Amino acid sequence: MSFVLALDQGTTSSRAIVFDENGRLVASAQQEFPQLFPQPGWVEHQPQDIWQSQLATARLAIEKAGIQPSQLAAIGITNQRETTVLWDRKTGEPLANAIVWQDRRTADLCKQLADAGHEPQVRARTGLLLDSYFSGPKLAWLLDHIPGSRQRAEAGELAFGTIDSWLIWNLTGGRLHITDPSNAARTLMFNIHSQLWDDDMLALFNIPRSVLPTIVASSGCHGKTEPSVLGAAIEIGGIAGDQQSALFGQACHRPGMAKNTYGTGCFMLLQTGDTAMPSEHGLLTTVAASGDGKPRYALEGSVFVGGAVVQWLRDGLGLVPNSSAVEPLAASVPDSGGVYFVPAFTGLGAPHWDPHACGGMLGLSRGTTQAHIARAALEGIAFQSADLLEAMQADAGQPLAELRADGGAAANNLLLQFQADLLGVPVVRPKVLETTALGAALLAGLAVGVYASVEALASQWQMDRVFEPGISRDEAAARRSKWRSAVARVQNWRG
Ligand code: G3P
Repeated sequence: MSFVLALDQGTTSSRAIVFDENGRLVASAQQEFPQLFPQPGWVEHQPQDIWQSQLATARLAIEKAGIQPSQLAAIGITNQRETTVLWDRKTGEPLANAIVWQDRRTADLCKQLADAGHEPQVRARTGLLLDSYFSGPKLAWLLDHIPGSRQRAEAGELAFGTIDSWLIWNLTGGRLHITDPSNAARTLMFNIHSQLWDDDMLALFNIPRSVLPTIVASSGCHGKTEPSVLGAAIEIGGIAGDQQSALFGQACHRPGMAKNTYGTGCFMLLQTGDTAMPSEHGLLTTVAASGDGKPRYALEGSVFVGGAVVQWLRDGLGLVPNSSAVEPLAASVPDSGGVYFVPAFTGLGAPHWDPHACGGMLGLSRGTTQAHIARAALEGIAFQSADLLEAMQADAGQPLAELRADGGAAANNLLLQFQADLLGVPVVRPKVLETTALGAALLAGLAVGVYASVEALASQWQMDRVFEPGISRDEAAARRSKWRSAVARVQNWRG
């Protein structure tokens, strides 16, 4: 029996999962790590926390699976995207904390470049917008603020990476400095059409080419881990950004198929096949993970705070002792009592792209209870996703048949039912909710022949439950219109 290990390095925790050759989950391990908020709008991670937590979970998952490391045919890596690390090629030491995707410190730089008229070219080449979400401005910030780093970068002494590159560097004892197109597509430095780093974009952000990783396919044999790290030399066969990995794990291989992942944020991706579809409605054109090396694309709506609002109810407000207590609390009232909760804690992503928006609760009255707030928080996740789906359908020019849901908060029935009510489209939950890790395992297993083909994998996808829309379209429209006016009130609040 062969096994595949998926490393799923997320924003708030590192996870490792062992899958067998039938794609079944054998064992898993998870570890949270510290989130650092040094200033308002800044979010950082210690790169060593990321690596050490990932390494610990990998070792634990192998142990729990009761297998020898040498039984692992391949490793698939999937990761929080855009988060930026800069390290010394000789020592492997990071020069600073990682700047996390949620960090807004480069909002002014992005605005300056947009005001100078660069946005159309950026959109055409990268599929993205000039927003502090992406890695290029974060890397420029590091090179501008760490004394001597730009000269050292130009001299070839430093390496930049998103989290996939950082993990692979450490897994291989510094032998491999690589990334895949789905991660590169989140940097603002990658041309999604040629699938190469783009010299004009590098010039725009003043980034020396020598810091960049080599781009390799999302599925392929790229090199082996250093034996001392996990106890065997294991092939690194899969690499993909977590949202593209989830699209793959959800078997959304045909154009027109879409998934929504309710993780820290909320990310809706629509498979568009070999067409890089531009967006007229505030979405991103991104690179999907490909199992056969041919370029694949997706339209993406990125919402910055999704499931994280549940964490905030728990840790920030102390409203619930644990995340799973939110659903019964929210279900204890029939509706939100007129409360609308816009969780724009780190600004608004798609389709608004407003780094200066803030979180807000509207419609509070003397009758408002904790239960109404919990319910409004869950509804806020679904309202944001409804805005994404509307933009997606407008761009694609056709309605969606169904939306596949995954991620931690997809276990919440109330949320998925409300989501279907708002969308007017069935929301489908798969049996395996770990679709992000599964996608990476499948990409890796395809590379080494543990899994036969993309088509064979797609036929194994199994449904757990369908949530059918249960309210009238008029009622959904009325609620969405109220939501939109709540969003309008929090926009540009910090501007
Ligand atoms: O783009 C950011 C995204 O990749 C983060 O995903 O699952 O950590 O919320 P997640």
